[in-house]
Amino acid sequence: MKYPPEPFKIKVVEPIGRTTREEREAVLEQAGYNVFNIPADKIYIDLLTDSGTSAMSDNQWAGIMLGDESYAGSRNYYHFEQTVQKIFGFKHVIPTHQGRVAENLLFSTILHKGLVVPNNSHFDTTRANVEFNGAEAVDLVIDEAKDPNKILPFKGNIDLDKLEALIQKTGRENIPLGMLTITNNSGGGQPVSMANIRATAKLLHSYEIPLILDACRFAENAWFIQQREAGYADKTILEIANEMFSYADGCTMSAKKDGLVNIGGFIALNDDQLTQQLTNRLILIEGFPTYGGLAGRDLEAIARGLEEVLDENYLAYRIGQVARMGDRLEEAGVPFLKPTGGHAVYLDAKSFLAHIPQSQFPGIALTVELYLHAGIRAVEIGSLMFAHKDEQTGTIQYPELELVRLAIPRRVYTNSQMEYVAESIIEIYKKRQQLQGFELTYEAPVLRHFTARMQLLA
Ligand code: F0G
Repeated sequence: MKYPPEPFKIKVVEPIGRTTREEREAVLEQAGYNVFNIPADKIYIDLLTDSGTSAMSDNQWAGIMLGDESYAGSRNYYHFEQTVQKIFGFKHVIPTHQGRVAENLLFSTILHKGLVVPNNSHFDTTRANVEFNGAEAVDLVIDEAKDPNKILPFKGNIDLDKLEALIQKTGRENIPLGMLTITNNSGGGQPVSMANIRATAKLLHSYEIPLILDACRFAENAWFIQQREAGYADKTILEIANEMFSYADGCTMSAKKDGLVNIGGFIALNDDQLTQQLTNRLILIEGFPTYGGLAGRDLEAIARGLEEVLDENYLAYRIGQVARMGDRLEEAGVPFLKPTGGHAVYLDAKSFLAHIPQSQFPGIALTVELYLHAGIRAVEIGSLMFAHKDEQTGTIQYPELELVRLAIPRRVYTNSQMEYVAESIIEIYKKRQQLQGFELTYEAPVLRHFTARMQLLA
């Protein structure tokens, strides 16, 4: 079945209000046309992120009631540790309250000025954490990943020649670790193949550089390997995950994605000494090592979520829901990044609104129209987020891709709601010539997309 139906039924519902177009016009004006400034109860379908927005199962909610809130040695920690070890296979597990704290612990311990961290593509908080500690974050995804129309089974792969050239140029002593982000969020939620993970590990290890996986969407990545890579069709998601992590020396994880919870994360490692250093730092900034900034009940929900996410019926439905939206858009000729990845559809705003130049934020024009037309919230990943001034020439450098991400929360929206989203996008596509560009009225010096204010160009 191409698009398997939901493998769950609904036990609890959360009403969502509808707004009128007039209300949405006023909301947008108040928000400075930045959807980050819109109160969530003014939104009908919220596709801002798939992070921390999952619906938990009855089994997870039942686990919440079994939370043991002891400061040290909570039983939920042991369940969490056991589950992480079963799937990820690393010797040590340090809980954190979300993914970027796992990154912060690791990078603040081992990075300093002059060091370089290669990755297929760093997610923005990962890059920011690398740079904040003085090091350089280098993206080495394969060139084909930058072509939105190129269909490849594993468009998240790292380019091994570029990786080797970087090591040669930089010197292994200046590269304390290499990373792979699975799936590659910044590059369209595209998977990395088992062969690429294996070869990356082999190359890095030949220079005695450890490999750390950014594992947020590991189950979605494993599902793509099962479906697309020769030799894996008969393996379970657990077996595939075990193999993926067997090549690595550790991982950072935001459980807010494939942990199917609203908060939580961890770092898992084999290195005893590094773990001890990180644990000492954890106590300083997050808490005792058996809770790491989380309540016992949260650890229980993660342990249960990590088991549930391995279910093939769930993954087939999940990835199918994303693919179905892509197929609907394809039939109507709407441009988007192909193939669809694991957690989101990324509209190609550059082609969608070819009449709006990058200096006038086509991605913002599309994001604003999605809200105005249909009450849908998406996020711009384009010029507002990434354009920057070249200090040497004084000219503005625009990103290659101008995208609008529709991230799909896990187990939250029904297929008919997704159908509504696809139809709304198609309606907007038909009247795209009427959309206009925007200009900034306020921008912060860093990470401006979160707080920027804009107005329609006259
Ligand atoms: N790594 C990747 C690949 C991510 O996508 C994210 C978060 C993080 C690390 C950080 O995890 O939020 O728990 O601190 N991505 C979210 C998103 C925010 O919308 O894509 P966190």
